Amino acid sequence: MRLSGFAGDIARRNDDEDSVKLPWNDYSRKLSPLKLTVFIALFLPVAWTAGHALTGNLGARPLTEAIHQQGLWTIRLILVALAITPLKSILAWQRLILVRRMVGVAAFAYVLLHFTLYVADENFNLVVVASEIAKRIYLTIGFTALCGLAALAATSTDRMIRRLGRKWHTLHRLVYVICALGLIHYSMQSKLEQWEPTIADGVFLWLMGYRLLAWKFAVRGRLGLGWVAGLGTVATVLTGLGEALYFNIAFHAPIGRVLMADFSLQTGVRPGVVVAAFSLIVLAAGMARTLALPPARGRSRPRFA
Ligand code: HEM
Repeated sequence: MRLSGFAGDIARRNDDEDSVKLPWNDYSRKLSPLKLTVFIALFLPVAWTAGHALTGNLGARPLTEAIHQQGLWTIRLILVALAITPLKSILAWQRLILVRRMVGVAAFAYVLLHFTLYVADENFNLVVVASEIAKRIYLTIGFTALCGLAALAATSTDRMIRRLGRKWHTLHRLVYVICALGLIHYSMQSKLEQWEPTIADGVFLWLMGYRLLAWKFAVRGRLGLGWVAGLGTVATVLTGLGEALYFNIAFHAPIGRVLMADFSLQTGVRPGVVVAAFSLIVLAAGMARTLALPPARGRSRPRFA
């Protein structure tokens, strides 16, 4: 059976590579500056937390703050991992795929730490931990997402990718559900503070929308930038509407008034504006890349429409 894409790349390599591969090397075992940079960057959030904890600068409840920080970085890294496929295509930057697995595995490491710190906060009383997970729906959802990420991390070795073949792709699509569960867990525990969760929801919408459009309309793996512009508009509007609906249900705030806040900075930068900025930056980078690409034979430019 001939495999395509990531699983195919892995399958074509020799079995003995597993034993010598270093995280910062590429497939030809040469040092990859991109992989090395990302590898180091992935340690920075935990180093920041450890540094602040050791110097007594993690606030009045350091353990709670550490739980929050690792949870935040888990969801951010899942979103970054999900952004790699669209960015690789929009920026015509094939090597970006080299860091996707590393980012995904790091997300799992962060959630494991998040969970371990939570267990520590419960004085390592596993009976209490288990009953809390069963009782509190936001913890049940978080724990389900953690189990899903564990399954993905366990099947992320070259050997498992080769062994699972096409099934690997199907299994790893679970990450969409895992991310949705992580976002629900995040929103539920954040209660009144919904600014960053709403931004994360908007970015997730964009990432899922991109996949849907690429599946339907991409030509040779590339989605026209006209579609990318349309997607950004829809994700921005839905983020704004989602926030307005939340304020309406939770505080009976008129939907129109919340939407108007998107057009002024009086209540700070609203989530819809951040999602609009994200969409515009990606679009502008895609356009710049299109103009910079030399029209080479056999290589298609990213299309504007
Ligand atoms: C993929 C899975 C998970 C993700 C993405 C995730 C993400 C998050 C995020 C983003 C926060 C909020 C941080 C903040 O507001 O500053 C959070 C809080 C929290 N999470 Fe998770 N989490 C996951 C799994 C779990 C699991 C398995 C548990 C424990 C069973 C857990 C327990 C908690 C607790 C206790 C809080 C703080 C709640 C509070 O202070 O009221 N999470 N998580």
